[in-house]
Amino acid sequence: MATMTAVRKMKPASGVSFETIPIPDVTSHGVLVRVKAASLCGTDLHIFHWDDWAASRIKTPMTFGHEFAGEVVEVGPQVESVKPGDHIAGETHIPCLNCYQCRTGQMHICNNLQILGVDRDGAFADYVMLPEVCCVKTDASIPWEIASIQEPFGNAVYAVSEANVVGKSVAVFGDGPTGVFAVAVARAFGATKIFAVGMQDYRLNLIRKFAPDVVINASETNPTDIILDATKGEGVDAVLEMSGAEPAIHAGFRVVKKGGVFTAFGIPSKPIGINFSEEIIFKGIRINGINGRKMFETWDQVANLLLSGRVDLKQVITHTLPLSKIEEAFELLTPGNIRAGKIVLKP
Ligand SMILES: NC(=O)c1ccc[n+]([C@@H]2O[C@H](COP(=O)([O-])OP(=O)(O)OC[C@H]3O[C@@H](n4cnc5c(N)ncnc54)[C@H](O)[C@@H]3O)[C@@H](O)[C@H]2O)c1
Ligand SMILES: [Zn+2]
Ligand SMILES: [Zn+2]
Repeated sequence: MATMTAVRKMKPASGVSFETIPIPDVTSHGVLVRVKAASLCGTDLHIFHWDDWAASRIKTPMTFGHEFAGEVVEVGPQVESVKPGDHIAGETHIPCLNCYQCRTGQMHICNNLQILGVDRDGAFADYVMLPEVCCVKTDASIPWEIASIQEPFGNAVYAVSEANVVGKSVAVFGDGPTGVFAVAVARAFGATKIFAVGMQDYRLNLIRKFAPDVVINASETNPTDIILDATKGEGVDAVLEMSGAEPAIHAGFRVVKKGGVFTAFGIPSKPIGINFSEEIIFKGIRINGINGRKMFETWDQVANLLLSGRVDLKQVITHTLPLSKIEEAFELLTPGNIRAGKIVLKP
């Protein structure tokens, strides 16, 4: 039986182990992909450190990792849209195709959604198998590293698209990779004034590469005062909340203009209190909940942004390491001591 190396969580505890396991058998609608690059996501950190969320969601043993790109090596008998040799990136939201949401063009919020590398074996391995519907053909001119980060970049593309930022002022809260991407996309989509709010110098320096108008370190200054002062007390047309931090969420409600748009993307680690009347109703704002990427409109926008050169994602990938050094990669992303942007691993 042919085998491969996979980074697995073998027991419910922190850490990872490198295992030799069989290469998955191809199912009738399945596509076997040779992983060429896989990037690290905050979700992988939760799984690595085995926090409460991971303990409640993940069933061991399992292979994790979900942001990836690779080359198709084998397809199941029912597969029609991809063939061996194709370059693909993985859409990590695996839809059932039968529920109401799937049948009404909302596969990204499928009622029976499974997530690659969370609910089933993922991509920190030599090979990964995923359903045909989740294979997104990627132009061979896009380098593997960049192709692998299309999934998280797509999150930002979807979030910014829903905010309709052309000619508008925008505040992006969060300096994680999706916050950095959101600034880049808002710029590419024609926002005219961009405030970028974060907490970490390393990441704020990355954000500066995408030329936001104002960069605010919320651990040093109050972003609300700065944004309200700069907008004559009115606030911004759109807030993109990409941090999930409760103070940022409240600051976002403060600085969104009356009648503006609040895009909710960051995921708080626990339920938070919201002043419904003051923060939402009386301000007449619209709230957009963003989960994943639109399948597959967002992916098309992603490809257009990359192939046109409107967004250069090279600047966000600060490290490319062999998959065998994944523990070193997690170390670079130690909360409170982050020394990397996006890290790409190569099996
Ligand atoms: N909705 C979705 O589909 C989806 C998908 C992936 C991730 N997420 C969530 O989006 C958020 C961002 O993800 P990420 O990968 O960029 O990760 P991340 O966790 O690396 O980024 C969060 C960033 O927020 C910053 N931050 C903390 N407090 C802040 C404050 N008060 N003001 C401004 N910034 C502050 C931190 O410095 C950190 O860099 C996370 O909450 C993640 O769980 C949502
Ligand atoms: Zn992810
Ligand atoms: Zn479904």
